[in-house]
Amino acid sequence: MHKKLAPKLDTQFKQEVYQGLTSYPKFLSSKYIYDKAGDALFQDIMNMPEYYLTNTEFSILETYKEQLAQYFFNNEKPFHLIEMGAGDGKKTKILLHHFTDKKLDFTFRPIDISQNALDSLQANLKDEIPELATEPMQGTYFETLKKLNFATDERKVILFLGSNIGNLLHDQAIEFLSKIQEYMQPNDLLFIGFDQKKHPQILLDAYNDTTGITARFNKNLLVRINRELEANFDMDSFMHWEVYDPESGTAKSYLVAQSPQQVHIEKLSLDVTFDAWETIHTEISQKYDDKTVHWLAEKSGLKVLETFSDAKNYYKNYLFTKSV
Ligand SMILES: C[S@@+](CC[C@H](N)C(=O)[O-])C[C@H]1O[C@@H](n2cnc3c(N)ncnc32)[C@H](O)[C@@H]1O
Repeated sequence: MHKKLAPKLDTQFKQEVYQGLTSYPKFLSSKYIYDKAGDALFQDIMNMPEYYLTNTEFSILETYKEQLAQYFFNNEKPFHLIEMGAGDGKKTKILLHHFTDKKLDFTFRPIDISQNALDSLQANLKDEIPELATEPMQGTYFETLKKLNFATDERKVILFLGSNIGNLLHDQAIEFLSKIQEYMQPNDLLFIGFDQKKHPQILLDAYNDTTGITARFNKNLLVRINRELEANFDMDSFMHWEVYDPESGTAKSYLVAQSPQQVHIEKLSLDVTFDAWETIHTEISQKYDDKTVHWLAEKSGLKVLETFSDAKNYYKNYLFTKSV
């Protein structure tokens, strides 16, 4: 009898795709959207008028860069500016320019799962701020953070911008923030962007633009599985769908199968069956208010030192330290 060989799940990508597509309901992690095409699509998203997140955080950093320099500066001692999920560093560059102009002694350490994003960021920084010391690290947040050990008098300032934290549900965010808190010394700082609750239509428009860029971004997950795992997803038979619950503040992205179908994934030795209108949940974009951010901080052993917001209170950046 012909026996089907068990698939070799020898990478985290294969394991997670296998797990997500053999579960019910199905899911995939949005972190795999970011390959070369996904990085470029995210840059297109940041340039969309509907995607207010980039401009609002940009304006906050521009307005408060001097105040932040004073917080981050460590009494003549060097500090490490670590950015988790740096992407193209578009907004971080405001701080990098300001801090180098002020001749602050620091090293910039961007972390990203996408090697492509890090390569273009590094090339770009070499060009724009040649005097900046940059040490990029490729990998997922914690696998990378674990490798960074510095002398205790060298302050670590950890940036987590773009409301990337919103990709986590609250219990995951508490686990995530607690891990960062354990990694921090009392002198270290954590600076995070949290997109705020606002008119639900503004939120829905940001994640479901009429030109279809967000849809292409979401579908890039399937394009990547097709290419890297030799699958045959038919892009036209899946649609992007966004929902927002104003009570919980959770926006969710889905890929929805518009007809019954079967997809073969050669490298996972897997056939995946979809009923009509079956979903793949791909992303969470959690929205916050002050009460929720303070609650998350308290649960994670952190305290809020200062809050910075844009003129419309669409978006806020919070500066945290360890609470004990
Ligand atoms: C939404 S983009 C934001 C980029 C930038 N922080 C900003 O605010 O514009 C998310 C970035 O985080 C990276 N990323 C997503 N999940 C990650 C993970 N688990 N570990 C490391 N990087 C991750 C992606 O590759 C991407 O560059």
